[in-house]
Amino acid sequence: RDNEKGIVYTVRAQKGKTEIFDGTETKTYGYNGAFLGPVLRLEKGDMVKIRTINELEENTTFHWHGLEVSADADGGPHNTLKPGEEKVIEFKVAQEASTLWFHPHPEGITAEQVYNGLAGLIYIEDDNSKNLGLPNDYGKNDIPLIFQDRNFDDKKQLNYNAAMNDDGTIGDTLLINGTLNPKLTVNKEKVRLRLLNGSNARNYTFKLNTGDSFVQISTDGGFLNEPVTLKEITLTPSERAEIVVDFSQLNTANDLALINEDESILLPFEVSDQSGEINKIPGEMNNFSITEEEKDLPVTKKVELFGMKDQVTINGKKFDPERIDFTQQQGVTEVWEIYNKPDMMGGMIHPFHIHGTQFKILSRDGEEPPENERGWKDSISIQPGERVKIAIQFKHKGVYMFHCHILEHEDNGMMGQLKVE
Ligand code: C2O
Ligand code: CU
Ligand code: CU
Repeated sequence: RDNEKGIVYTVRAQKGKTEIFDGTETKTYGYNGAFLGPVLRLEKGDMVKIRTINELEENTTFHWHGLEVSADADGGPHNTLKPGEEKVIEFKVAQEASTLWFHPHPEGITAEQVYNGLAGLIYIEDDNSKNLGLPNDYGKNDIPLIFQDRNFDDKKQLNYNAAMNDDGTIGDTLLINGTLNPKLTVNKEKVRLRLLNGSNARNYTFKLNTGDSFVQISTDGGFLNEPVTLKEITLTPSERAEIVVDFSQLNTANDLALINEDESILLPFEVSDQSGEINKIPGEMNNFSITEEEKDLPVTKKVELFGMKDQVTINGKKFDPERIDFTQQQGVTEVWEIYNKPDMMGGMIHPFHIHGTQFKILSRDGEEPPENERGWKDSISIQPGERVKIAIQFKHKGVYMFHCHILEHEDNGMMGQLKVE
């Protein structure tokens, strides 16, 4: 970091080998390493330059999920880098503290590249986040957790095509930060867990095996105004949430773990005898609001999600890189209504994502969204039959994608393009 020149990163998409299982090497992809990627740390106001290099033997792109950047820097399918190519992107960080991520986005092969290991995190800090007094000791009481399910063949390799199910890859093996069966050792203190559902198609409902509650402090794109006490939280693919678990208040006589909806263990905890830092979770963390004006805006764009398997569409169409589906003026807030149209079988949840901006959920089926969704979002789960209204504005111009974040649905054309003018 150099305040004059800003901040410079080099991010290389690479092939490598990772010892996920003892004594066996699995072929993987990674950013600046064999598997997954580094945490890129940014601060609001930073001028950032990222040199992106494709060292793979296939096309890729570098997409910054949740980052408010110009379409040219966004890394959508139009920003393809061929093998050996590189590109420098520059942008100013103009959004608030949040946990974002990055992954590839080449047309038709996004799912397989993410499956093989291309994903990393982006942390944005700002004056607010630095002064809130939240746990922020990386790896100690501030832990990134990327949840991904994978299938391995009998040679312990990631075989994407063999792993494909009807609606994407649902794996029988959970990796957290690329690790098999990890255990998290924590002190008796408040610990901040930055959860990312980095899976291609699986949803997770996180809860503590003791039934104790925790607080959620952030959504995809920033802090909630107040911590929200929860017993469980569901994240669909690409959604993030920061939660704080207070290990000083939990009964550690029994084994503690984060479990899934079906009670299967996601992440066991080992609580040491040490009492850690005394962090307080402030009662007020942000000033997110939805204005009366925004509430009164008419719906100007309708998005209808439909289908399953490879029969998925948005507004009855599949992705066409030559077709612009919507246009919107830069800096103008519009209301979009997203509808998940059920089919004869009932339908399925589609996690809907929009590039290049953070938006506000105005309503779910006409009702106010739950408390823990009253904050900036870039991906939202939409239940079959549900109608969700969002208020959305773009700071930059260019062509952006919107799509289902079940990556196989995206690759199968459940994606459209918006031109911001
Ligand atoms: Cu995670 Cu098109 O994005
Ligand atoms: Cu994105
Ligand atoms: Cu979908």
